[in-house]
Amino acid sequence: MILVEARNLPAHVGIIMDGNGRWAQQRGRSRVDGHREGSNTVRRVVRAARKLGLKALTLYAFSEQNWARPETEIDALWILLREFLLSERNEILDNGIRLNAIGNVGKLPSIVRAVLEPLRRESEENVSMTLNLALSYGGREEIATAAKELAKRVAAGTMTPDEVTPEALHRLMPSLAVGDPDLVIRTGGEHRISNFLLYGLAYAELYFTDALWPEFEVEDLYKAIAAYQARERRYGKVGKAAPVQSGAQVIRLAV
Ligand code: FPP
Repeated sequence: MILVEARNLPAHVGIIMDGNGRWAQQRGRSRVDGHREGSNTVRRVVRAARKLGLKALTLYAFSEQNWARPETEIDALWILLREFLLSERNEILDNGIRLNAIGNVGKLPSIVRAVLEPLRRESEENVSMTLNLALSYGGREEIATAAKELAKRVAAGTMTPDEVTPEALHRLMPSLAVGDPDLVIRTGGEHRISNFLLYGLAYAELYFTDALWPEFEVEDLYKAIAAYQARERRYGKVGKAAPVQSGAQVIRLAV
């Protein structure tokens, strides 16, 4: 039995979806089969996140560095993403999900942009949960873009160097428009961040699991959230005894 409290949920969860290739390799299948199975995990995790009441879910679907992969694998990923956006369109719109993309979206092929942009526009007023797809995304690239924008403003005289503050940078990060990530999950057994949400990670809780992304189940998401809820977030301050949670409402999630 996994207990997830209905309060004290992380508002913004980020996921580094790793392990598609190894999942396929272990079964003697192609890497593309691994990504296809990984898309099905995306479907179930998005649904579960919405039902739990998360305010934002950011999925690292394609990093800026992933462009170095073989063209056939990249092309297959775009086809899977297009299929995902087409097949989930109604589910997204009917359930008040705001679909957003972060990263260098201009670099994506037109077969993706042709379905991504209309869904982004159609869902932009939705408020139940934001689904951020990180596509051609890099944390360092995002910081550099924000820094460049501030530099331009200083050069143009519309702001002073003293106004270049952590908050000013933060306001220019598309990935943080939904707030800093509270919890970042990485599947696939590696313990690294791989250029994901770097600026926003300052006080995020990190959760690593050996489960490969295609085999990541809804129960694994609950486990990660329950682990988050058992931690004390100190934000650089001195810790205090964990508050008594006697009246805490819990959702019982039997597995
Ligand atoms: C990392 O696994 C995964 C990716 C680079 C792509 C993630 C893509 C999907 C989950 C499917 C399509 C996305 C959506 C949003 C529908 P890896 O290939 O690096 O695995 P490995 O480390 O085992 O080789």
